[in-house]
Amino acid sequence: MKIEVVKKLSGIKADTLVAGVWAAGKNDKPEMTPAAAAVDKACGMVSAAIEAGDFTGKAGDIMALHAVKGFDCKRVLIVGLGAKDAMSEKTFIAAHRKVGKFARGGSVALTSAEWTVPERDEAWAARSAVREMLFASHKPQGLKTKGEPAKAITDIFWVSDKNPADDLQAGRIAAGAMLWAKELQDLPPNICDPQFLAQAAASAVEEFETAASKADKGRLTVKVLDKNAIDEAGMGGVIGVCKGSAVDPVFIELAWHGASEDKAPVVLVGKGVCFDAGGISLKPSRMMDQMKFDMSGGAVVMAAVKAAADMRLKENVVALVPAVENLPSGSAQKPADVITMMNGMTVEVLNTDAEGRLILADALTRACELNPAVCIDVATLTGACIVALGNDVSGLFCDDEALTAEMACAADSAHDPVWPLPMGGGYAKALESGVADIANIGWTGGAGASVAATFLSKFAPKCPWAHLDVAGTAQAASGKSGGTARPLPLLLEWLTARAVKGTAKAKGKKSSAKKSAK
Ligand code: BES
Ligand code: MN
Ligand code: ZN
Repeated sequence: MKIEVVKKLSGIKADTLVAGVWAAGKNDKPEMTPAAAAVDKACGMVSAAIEAGDFTGKAGDIMALHAVKGFDCKRVLIVGLGAKDAMSEKTFIAAHRKVGKFARGGSVALTSAEWTVPERDEAWAARSAVREMLFASHKPQGLKTKGEPAKAITDIFWVSDKNPADDLQAGRIAAGAMLWAKELQDLPPNICDPQFLAQAAASAVEEFETAASKADKGRLTVKVLDKNAIDEAGMGGVIGVCKGSAVDPVFIELAWHGASEDKAPVVLVGKGVCFDAGGISLKPSRMMDQMKFDMSGGAVVMAAVKAAADMRLKENVVALVPAVENLPSGSAQKPADVITMMNGMTVEVLNTDAEGRLILADALTRACELNPAVCIDVATLTGACIVALGNDVSGLFCDDEALTAEMACAADSAHDPVWPLPMGGGYAKALESGVADIANIGWTGGAGASVAATFLSKFAPKCPWAHLDVAGTAQAASGKSGGTARPLPLLLEWLTARAVKGTAKAKGKKSSAKKSAK
């Protein structure tokens, strides 16, 4: 894909040109952005539509103009931005999603550098615009044998006198990673099983290696533990959950070595239940098909590491994904089984459908061995989180104030909302077991998402740790649109902000060292 910064609107040759219009505020009329004014100057069609009352600039409205004189474009998309003083990340992002859907592939010229969002710079605008437009423009063909996939966007022109080239590329990489995660999410469970997920990680490494310069070779690595190795490592949670399945589990470790070896890594843990039938505690069949999305956390953290590699982020980032199927069978684990986890704790499995926490517990124990600087897990963990927050907001569980604030910031920046929920404290009481160290479900009922997070907290590394429950947000709430790749936008905003901060610190260090040397 070609992404180019162009200084002037005149002379642009693109399939689609995008221009914005602000809606009327309290006392004024709709206002054209400079790009829309330029289009209007050439054809008069924008002001005519506004005067006729057909286009008000309301956020979410879009109008296509064709054969605009003086512009070498198939179409000009006039986009409503809402009132200027109410401009927000949400409106900016929604507008670019709409553009992605209306552009019909090919080349797109964006003038959204003019759509100023309070407290956001053009770097933010560039990466957000590209990420959201590219992700939304993709209409997957899936496994349909008829019809054609949507045409891909091939070129982007960013109209501005600034040059946010790195951020435009970051947006492209983020969209690519999101599409990869979504592809894995949407695949049916008879194809995307644990072995397939491991293969996908291996392919990502291979692809990176092929394209990498000499210096970058060997910096993206994957290690896959098979069932034997998982057993030998003592991962009783992973072994317990996979017992009903005919497909062997895997434990995937996908790592980007972007900094020196002694720098403590960012460890991302993702739930990789390729299908969750509930096990012996079988789920009802209504909507059971949705449990193919129970590997979303795993797909998202693998995609985050891939994106970190593609951006050559100066951080060590590791994705840990325990991948299993949770199925009933004569060999499946039973309610009341007691299993021994990798950290030596015993767990009474009172409900085999609370399987995510069992495999994540072992993955968090593995994370401890890596001495992370920070650890984040992503999991479609509880239906209770959907009851609490619905399908737009992910649950954030974190006892570290600074990390909570960073997550909230990244969520705002990516418009990938999260809301903090409590864990620990009294919730631990619910997990008491008569026979083992801990039970895998609460006996008190209620606060299911908090109880699950509290279970995980018993295994989490000592570093700042956050748990994201994405049961409600990993897939679209309705219709057939499938996986959302959330919370990948949040994770990538957080990771890049962290890397930038780290670089600034390192730079500061150097100069102060120089000073003291003088
Ligand atoms: N994968 C489910 C959670 C889930 C439910 C995700 C609906 C997306 C949509 C998880 O493994 C599960 O079954 N959780 C149980 C826990 C309960 C048995 C304590 C639940 O939420 O019902
Ligand atoms: Mn379950
Ligand atoms: Zn599950």
